[in-house]
Amino acid sequence: MCGLIGALSRRNVAPLLLDGLKRLEYRGYDSAGLACIDGAGISVHRRVGKVAELERLLQRRMPDSAIGIGHTRWATHGEPEERNAHPQVSRDTIAVVHNGIIENYEGLRKMLEVMGYAFSSDTDTEVVAHLVHYHYAGLSDLFAAVRTAVNQLVGAYAIAVMAADRPDCLVVARQGNPLAVGIGDGEQFVASDAVALLPFTDRFVFLEDGDVACLAADGLSVLDADGQAVERPLQQLDVAGAGADKGPYRHYMLKEIHEQPDALADTIRGCVEHGMLLPAALGFTDRELLQRVQAVHIVACGTSHHAGEVARYWLESVARLPCSVDLASEYRYRDPVVPPGCLFVTLSQSGETADTLAALRYAAKAGYLGTLAICNCPASSLVRESAMHLLTRAGPEIGVASTKAFTTQLLSVLLLTLLLAHRHRHDAQAGRSQLEQLRQVSARVEDVLNLSRRIEALAVPLVNHASALFLGRGPLYPIAREGALKLKEISYIHAEAYASGELKHGPLALVDDQMPVIALAPSNLLLDKQRSNLREVQARKGQLFVFSDRDSGIEAGPGVRLVEMPKVDALSAPIVYAVALQLLAYHAAVLRGSDVDKPRNLAKSVTVE
Ligand code: F6R
Repeated sequence: MCGLIGALSRRNVAPLLLDGLKRLEYRGYDSAGLACIDGAGISVHRRVGKVAELERLLQRRMPDSAIGIGHTRWATHGEPEERNAHPQVSRDTIAVVHNGIIENYEGLRKMLEVMGYAFSSDTDTEVVAHLVHYHYAGLSDLFAAVRTAVNQLVGAYAIAVMAADRPDCLVVARQGNPLAVGIGDGEQFVASDAVALLPFTDRFVFLEDGDVACLAADGLSVLDADGQAVERPLQQLDVAGAGADKGPYRHYMLKEIHEQPDALADTIRGCVEHGMLLPAALGFTDRELLQRVQAVHIVACGTSHHAGEVARYWLESVARLPCSVDLASEYRYRDPVVPPGCLFVTLSQSGETADTLAALRYAAKAGYLGTLAICNCPASSLVRESAMHLLTRAGPEIGVASTKAFTTQLLSVLLLTLLLAHRHRHDAQAGRSQLEQLRQVSARVEDVLNLSRRIEALAVPLVNHASALFLGRGPLYPIAREGALKLKEISYIHAEAYASGELKHGPLALVDDQMPVIALAPSNLLLDKQRSNLREVQARKGQLFVFSDRDSGIEAGPGVRLVEMPKVDALSAPIVYAVALQLLAYHAAVLRGSDVDKPRNLAKSVTVE
């Protein structure tokens, strides 16, 4: 969702900005642009569509400039049109790129119009450009002009600003949206995601909310929200493999699905030593706090929320801790009650999801025992703002639809559950045997990857349908919901998931010979109940697509298509079955010809509420 980049160097930055924009493509966008300063002043280049369109435009005449800013825009204010793309420019003097939403832009726009500023776009960003222009005209100091302008803004933003007569400095500011400054050799960069800058540097300064910074040849100056000069720590990122290419795979999503056995093994390796869980690796550097946890409250969005829903089953049944799970966008508006000794846990791949961050900020003041972020991005705002963190070890995930980040989240919350369940020493042995079982999870996921062809065959009849139902019970119910979400987001087939027991309370009315029903039915304590639900579907001639193991006794037959899954223990089943549904959605999407890695209207990192 919107990507921002800027560069100041001795070399021509235009190709660097283009390269960076390509690395931001995974976030989802509908137009792209860049601006540079050359002998003739600010030149702006914008295109609706992919960065490749912008590249084609620039190939005709590549700008030659030592300073520039670029952007991929995901439309919020105004349609995806060239005039609404960024950079937005004020009177040929000020150019701005912006992520986020300026909530008071309408009032500011009216004020600026009265002052004589003419608007050429529908964006809230153009307001920022004119506002900076106005203050720059009065103050003749770009740094001061941006500081004054952002004081008038309400909302969330990360901005980068340059002035036609100041080709030696780039001014940036953040409030609620991330900004990473990359420090190179005699050159400086800025981006909304460090990934965009990895070819140029591995040294980063992450700005904090309220910071305004000036990047210049002689260094970086940062002022905090109170206008005080501050030094934010320089961090060296471990970037091995980051942003790597697709290798032999047709899509990033397929590559990432196949990376899961290694990612899961890495997750266990990072949290276990000599057969024992490492509390510090699971977030508990404070051992005493671990003993005081009496309840858990999980908050997340989308796929990460589904991981939280599975965690609830585990935390209650295995660790015997009361657990509630909320959508981040709902949580802080419902005035939640905080039980005594309650740990607040966020789950997020990106660590930049605006709703989840807002929930964390609310929770930090709400009287929880502590805040724990389970996150895949070590340098993210969520990790930095939480008291404790547990890093999932999925590695960078480029496909918009989350896959390996989800299964490593599941494994991480499972390890956390075992830690909480066996935190008293006399239980240590029980924990060991469960950990031993979990070591098999990578091998079982590998078995599912070997079923890819069989699952592809199942996707063939599925893609002709407009709608599908998913069914699961117990911890496999949230997995059914995740399967439905995956199918919706990349194949655009409408899908809904139900706890199987709910079928007869309403959705059964939808079942006829045209309705595919995808059911998760591993042999477990709930199998008999699940089989009864499947018979209810069969009796209405519904088309069953069943994922089950040999011990279940379920057989293929008229109206029943079967994928024989490996036999797995109850704790590993959600992870293993999730992978099968990822493959189903992937193959369905490929068969329908959709843009698997960048599904329409979606963004990898959702930085607006
Ligand atoms: C779906 C998907 C989204 C994200 C959601 C939260 O495949 O990836 O539903 O899970 O936008 O994002 P994070 O986990 O980055 O907080």
